[in-house]
Amino acid sequence: MSLEGKVALITGAGGMRGVGRATALKLASLGADVAITDVRRPVDDLPPGEVRAEWQSIDSVAEEVQNLGRRVVPIYADLSKPDEIEGLVAETVNHYGRLDIMVNNARAIIGRDKVPVTELEEEVWQHFLAINTTAVFLCTKHAGREMVRLGNGGRVVNIASNAGKQASADGAAYSASKFAVIGLTQASAMDLAPHGITVNAVCPGPINTDRMSYWERAQAQERGMTQEEFRAQIVSASSERTPLGRIAEPEDVANLVAFLAGPDSELITGQSYNVNGGILFH
Ligand SMILES: NC(=O)c1ccc[n+]([C@@H]2O[C@H](COP(=O)([O-])OP(=O)(O)OC[C@H]3O[C@@H](n4cnc5c(N)ncnc54)[C@H](O)[C@@H]3O)[C@@H](O)[C@H]2O)c1
Repeated sequence: MSLEGKVALITGAGGMRGVGRATALKLASLGADVAITDVRRPVDDLPPGEVRAEWQSIDSVAEEVQNLGRRVVPIYADLSKPDEIEGLVAETVNHYGRLDIMVNNARAIIGRDKVPVTELEEEVWQHFLAINTTAVFLCTKHAGREMVRLGNGGRVVNIASNAGKQASADGAAYSASKFAVIGLTQASAMDLAPHGITVNAVCPGPINTDRMSYWERAQAQERGMTQEEFRAQIVSASSERTPLGRIAEPEDVANLVAFLAGPDSELITGQSYNVNGGILFH
């Protein structure tokens, strides 16, 4: 499968072990040129591994893409700001003269949402909806308009979650935001179908990422361990509960994104596929 000649825009692409970076590298390895975006995060909001490695977000990912021989443009933008989303899409199209693939991967930094609904701050709820749902809508709207105008068809791939199909306790904001993405995926698939643009969602179970979580940091402190030690315990416990014996790596998710972004998925739209080692079947 080749994505030669295609241009992809990927949000939330700056994490050193995130799904966004894995997706950018996968699509570039298949021949796509990429625009990668992320917000500038303060050091306190970064996973310890990124601070230690002096990881430079999308600038570091851009170097990796260049090493694959593809073109790349890193664009810093805050997805809580609608005008920055519009600017991001415009900058991508101005830079490359086209846009074929939109991957909505970013999400609000997790942890403050992990409380019972009766304790959930409205501000946290609003932030989760803003980044996980409204930004996906706005990226789809602006990228979709450009794809329609350019007339080459296109692909939108939204990273939802198993939590968008099956909620758990202490997950009201996150689950609501991801259930909404699945509805948005179906509706926009129907709206964009006449233009040869498909819209699908990928729903991962737990992923072995090095994401920042305020909850994990607090739990680790309480237990007198490092955030990474605590994270390793979670990954190991989740793997044991998974029928296939391990949780997803970012690359497992990127592989499905690449399929949905490519020519072989031409007749697939409005679907929400799990990547989860068999922990949930619908
Ligand atoms: N990690 C998991 O276990 C898991 C499980 C299921 C689904 N997912 C989904 O997969 C996707 C990727 O997960 P991950 O763990 O790689 O992500 P992550 O938690 O590392 O966050 C992704 C990116 O979003 C960016 N972001 C946060 N706020 C932003 C803002 N205001 N503007 C722009 N960007 C912003 C972050 O900087 C980060 O690089 C997400 O949509 C997530 O919900 C993850």
